[in-house]
Amino acid sequence: MELQKLVSMVLPFLMIMYIPKANAQTSDDAKNLLHQIFNASAYNKAVRPIYEQTMTTNVSIEFYLTSILDFDSQKEKLTTSGFLIISWNDYYLQWTPATYGNLTSVFIPQDNVWKPDISLQNGVSELKGLGSSSLFVYVLSDGALTWYPVGIFESTCGIDITYFPFDIQTCTLTFTAWSYTKTEVRVMVGKKGIILDEYEENSEWSIVDTSVDTLEQYTDAAVVFSIKLKRKPLFVLLNVILPVIMLSLLNVCIFVLPAESGEKASFSVTVFLALAVFLTMVTATLPQNSEKISLLGIYLVIIAGFSTVIVILTLFILRLNFRNVDEDPIPPCLIQLQVIVEKVRCRKCNKLRPAIMSETEVHNFDPGYTVYTQDATSAVSQSNPTTPHKSKITWNHICNALDFIFFWIFLIATFITTVAIFSICS
Ligand SMILES: *[C@@H]1O[C@H](CO)[C@@H](O)[C@H](O)[C@H]1NC(C)=O
Ligand SMILES: *[C@@H]1O[C@H](CO)[C@@H](O)[C@H](O)[C@H]1NC(C)=O
Ligand SMILES: *[C@@H]1O[C@H](CO)[C@@H](O)[C@H](O)[C@H]1NC(C)=O
Repeated sequence: MELQKLVSMVLPFLMIMYIPKANAQTSDDAKNLLHQIFNASAYNKAVRPIYEQTMTTNVSIEFYLTSILDFDSQKEKLTTSGFLIISWNDYYLQWTPATYGNLTSVFIPQDNVWKPDISLQNGVSELKGLGSSSLFVYVLSDGALTWYPVGIFESTCGIDITYFPFDIQTCTLTFTAWSYTKTEVRVMVGKKGIILDEYEENSEWSIVDTSVDTLEQYTDAAVVFSIKLKRKPLFVLLNVILPVIMLSLLNVCIFVLPAESGEKASFSVTVFLALAVFLTMVTATLPQNSEKISLLGIYLVIIAGFSTVIVILTLFILRLNFRNVDEDPIPPCLIQLQVIVEKVRCRKCNKLRPAIMSETEVHNFDPGYTVYTQDATSAVSQSNPTTPHKSKITWNHICNALDFIFFWIFLIATFITTVAIFSICS
């Protein structure tokens, strides 16, 4: 019992002895300092913190970009997240560290000190102050202040869609001290400009380049952060452009389908409708800008135009196909055309036939079309094969010849258009 009493009496003293002696940078020092600043010296945050009010307060701004949240091509709006590093000097927030236990820095709530009213000049949303009342300002004993207002910045960004989806856009974020003129508060670029140390890659856009500049406006100065963004085209390539190219090939293949199948018209209209759907999809992703038209849009319109012409031609060819030679004689120019097509086709056939096929296969090869029996070795029949068979030509043959001609015309036209548009784009 005696021992317990002794311990219970001694223990508090022992505990007090083990508490480290608080002599430097205590909370008391900070309290004293803040009392000195805000009560004894009556700090007024409405006063620009410089003794000579004719002098300029220099504010430097850096931008720490953490991610691009969204780039809405249609609303021409860039949403970025990050924070600014804003520094300036406050004449009234200086102290001698030795007086306050060698305290060299304090954090003060941002609403308690003067701060420049920096705002995003090309913002989309309603103007409101940077940061929030829960943020602090870092103050050094020599009066240097640093403020890190974090936020989501929504800025306008004019978009040039000419080369969509291989486009590069330059977006800017312009920060200025809104109320003050440049003789009172001058914003300038900090040491580093745009900092991308913690930048998280966006899935749709990659940053090509960044730059910072100061902009001298009529009454005030501004800091302009420029971000050069390149669209990652894979999504549009796979989901829009590739299907359109496939459709344009299908479009041409209408001429491969024989007229007897009765499917030519419906097939061509179906392809046309599918193209129209893709045209709608592309225009939905682009801004409704009538000044600049995207090359992809032009390409889609050209392909849709081809499709329209193909539908019309197909209908005409179908009509011709069901004509009777006895009632409607074939005009000589069409017969000439058929002769030429025959020659072109058979030159190719003759190159292939001796090498690849036997003579029996040759006869099975194109039974409806080969109107004369062909001897591959006979030079005479090759040089002038059609004269004895003119009378056998029917409207069906003319239609086949037209199909052949249009197939190649539209295939080549589609190919040239595709290559031309995409070589300009990329
Ligand atoms: C210091 O000033 C603040 C307002 O600026 C006031 O709320 C506080 O009571 C004052 N403290 C003292 C000790 O005067
Ligand atoms: C701000 O910068 C200008 C020149 O850049 C300088 O003349 C002026 O003295 C600076 N103001 C202060 C308060 O240091
Ligand atoms: C402050 O720092 C100086 C030099 O480093 C030192 O001599 C002095 O004792 C410190 N004052 C306190 C209160 O710790």
